[in-house]
Amino acid sequence: MGAAVNAARDEIEGLLGARQKALAREGLEAELRAPPLDVTLPGRRPDAAGRRHPVSAALDDLVEILARMGYEVAEGPEVELDYYNFEALNMPPDHPARDMQDTFYVATEGHGPTAPTVLRTHTSPVQIRSMLGRRPPLRICSPGKVYRRDDDPTHSPMFHQIEVLCVDRDVTLGDLKGTLAEFVRAFFGEGFRIRLRPSYFPFVEPGAEVDVTCTFCLGKGCRTCKGSGFVEVLGAGLVHPRVLRNVGYDPEEVSGFAFGCGIDRLAMLRSGVDDLRHFFEGDLRFLEQM
Ligand code: PHE
Repeated sequence: MGAAVNAARDEIEGLLGARQKALAREGLEAELRAPPLDVTLPGRRPDAAGRRHPVSAALDDLVEILARMGYEVAEGPEVELDYYNFEALNMPPDHPARDMQDTFYVATEGHGPTAPTVLRTHTSPVQIRSMLGRRPPLRICSPGKVYRRDDDPTHSPMFHQIEVLCVDRDVTLGDLKGTLAEFVRAFFGEGFRIRLRPSYFPFVEPGAEVDVTCTFCLGKGCRTCKGSGFVEVLGAGLVHPRVLRNVGYDPEEVSGFAFGCGIDRLAMLRSGVDDLRHFFEGDLRFLEQM
């Protein structure tokens, strides 16, 4: 019985093998008879190569300028503890300054830390994180995304900021002004000047809003700058003693300055774009002009 089954298997395998070989030969012959592949056709050129997005370009330039001035990059999370975003920066739970940045809260019930959590409204919490991790002297800059409940031609619910913090012995308002002047000159070019106006941010004292020579009229006065020759670009000040104490520094021993500015706003001013939302819509007709 076994011998008969083996003989049958050999016969079937032999027939299958022969048929497979025949099919392969026919396939090859059909390919050889078909019109040949024309390898001399020119290749298709890829569409225009991409390049950096105007906001990324501004961000890279800012970091490079600050790196030359001795600042290192520090990073922090976009989903941030309320404590770092507000409280440690001298904005307790019912502080009115929170309203201006009114905020996307993140529900944390049931998972992980139960501490209140927000999408960070500014890059200033990185000041706290950096200071908690080390002792002065400290010079950091921190670019990244921030989130607020805003949506109009000059505000988007997500935008970019860069935070700059310097803490050391004997840091003064003069150091802040000098740094800002150089920062603005390096980014916009010679002839761009700064102007400080007293202002209030809970985490600095004194605080200032900083204006730059209007990029549209170069200071002559136009509609964008409402005739003043200056446009507002950033917030700045000397680090509040209470903030220094919150991270365990002694305000009698060290002092510091900080400033924070909107990267998108700087990019808009530098390239004369009047609607922030263009940056985030990904419309090639816009991006190709940048
Ligand atoms: N964090 C402030 C804002 O987003 C800007 C700022 C930073 C002001 C540092 C002073 C010092 O409006």
